[in-house]
Amino acid sequence: LGTAVMTAAPQMGIPGIPVEQLAREFGTPAYVYDAASIRKRLSDLRAFDTVRYAQKACSNLSILEVVRKEGALVDSVSAGEIHRALAAGYVPQGSPPPIAYTSDIFDEETLDLVVERDIHVNCGSPDMIEQLGARVSGREITLRINPGFGHGHSQKTNTGGEQSKHGIWHEQLDECVELARRNDLKVAGLHLHIGSGTDFEHLSRVCGAMEELAPRVGDTLHSISAGGGLPIRYTEGDQEIDIDEYFRLWDDSRKRIEKTLGRKIDLEIEPGRFVVAESGYLICRICAIKQMGDNLFYLLDAGFNTLARPILYGAYHPISITPVAGSSADRAEQDVVVGGPLCESGDIFTQSEGGFVQKRRLPQANVGDLLVIECAGAYASVMASNYNSKPLPPEVLIDDQQCRLIRRRQSVEDMYIVMNRHILRTLVGS
Ligand code: LLP
Repeated sequence: LGTAVMTAAPQMGIPGIPVEQLAREFGTPAYVYDAASIRKRLSDLRAFDTVRYAQKACSNLSILEVVRKEGALVDSVSAGEIHRALAAGYVPQGSPPPIAYTSDIFDEETLDLVVERDIHVNCGSPDMIEQLGARVSGREITLRINPGFGHGHSQKTNTGGEQSKHGIWHEQLDECVELARRNDLKVAGLHLHIGSGTDFEHLSRVCGAMEELAPRVGDTLHSISAGGGLPIRYTEGDQEIDIDEYFRLWDDSRKRIEKTLGRKIDLEIEPGRFVVAESGYLICRICAIKQMGDNLFYLLDAGFNTLARPILYGAYHPISITPVAGSSADRAEQDVVVGGPLCESGDIFTQSEGGFVQKRRLPQANVGDLLVIECAGAYASVMASNYNSKPLPPEVLIDDQQCRLIRRRQSVEDMYIVMNRHILRTLVGS
């Protein structure tokens, strides 16, 4: 194993409620979210005309409700996410449209749903324009353009450039505007999203691309979207993004576009991670501690079934330890590897991209102590799986010093039902 020591991240702790109390009340593992943190992040973005929350980051209905009550709109990438938006109280009609469907494809169910419920569509392929045009007329659409460059925290989250499947290739913009016109659809919006966990330098290049593209759409255009991708601080070394500076860049671009087009243009942003990542905590229990040659492992009751980001992208998450009452842990720090319960060697939370196990400096702990994985609000619960027949953990929302269960722990029976339906579908072919 190639090991490298990483320094411990800031220990933020869970606001207001002791970790031990949460573990006692809801069991482990459990996801806990802090509503105040979500509200704070949304308010940081208030200079933008429209904030459209990318719910793929965390789509729990109670989280969507917090976001909706703060005045943010919502993006959906599937029929399931459209249903969630509706269930959380969003209504489809309005200007700007409260719910958008952003994708590169339509499946039958989703096309039916956007047609029936009049959901705004952000088209990421010429096929989507034609398929929607065959069903409706006179509607406004947005075009998601791939500007030919992209950037993400990992190559897997870079959504621009010709290696990415996302968006309409920038050279095809003119023909897609014409295709929309022939299909009696109006291109009302242009949208650029070049990746997730993007850095400031790349994010600022997107404004320039928008300035080049927007005037080519013509007089139906009234909204531009900067997409999502804003980074957050997972480690002490990460820079906090300067939102005011970022807004200024976009606002300047918007003004230049308005001048060229001679009318007002709505400036939208579509963040997911930035809104929820720091609000979330995954509370786990240390179930075994063992020495394997040079490596000391803390093994938890949660693995990549609950947080897939480390195994997928080598993503770094801050970790803190809470000794349970009566636990006699000496608080001295040591280098440890933190892993989960799954039957795969890659089930390690402290690893870099490429699967190299890393050591983390953490306080000594005892079996039974609690360990909190922080910045687990985005792309954590939503990417969880039932691998190794592990039920999905519960989700808890802390708001105003109160904690509330917002999704109960999945039971073993719940897992059977999903499995049985799947088997049934395979057997009867429906
Ligand atoms: N809009 C579109 C069209 C997107 O594809 C995405 C993310 C967003 C907005 C929100 O991006 P954000 O602001 O959250 O960076 N599972 C990965 C992230 C995948 C993001 C995919 N698209 C991770 O855990 O890092």
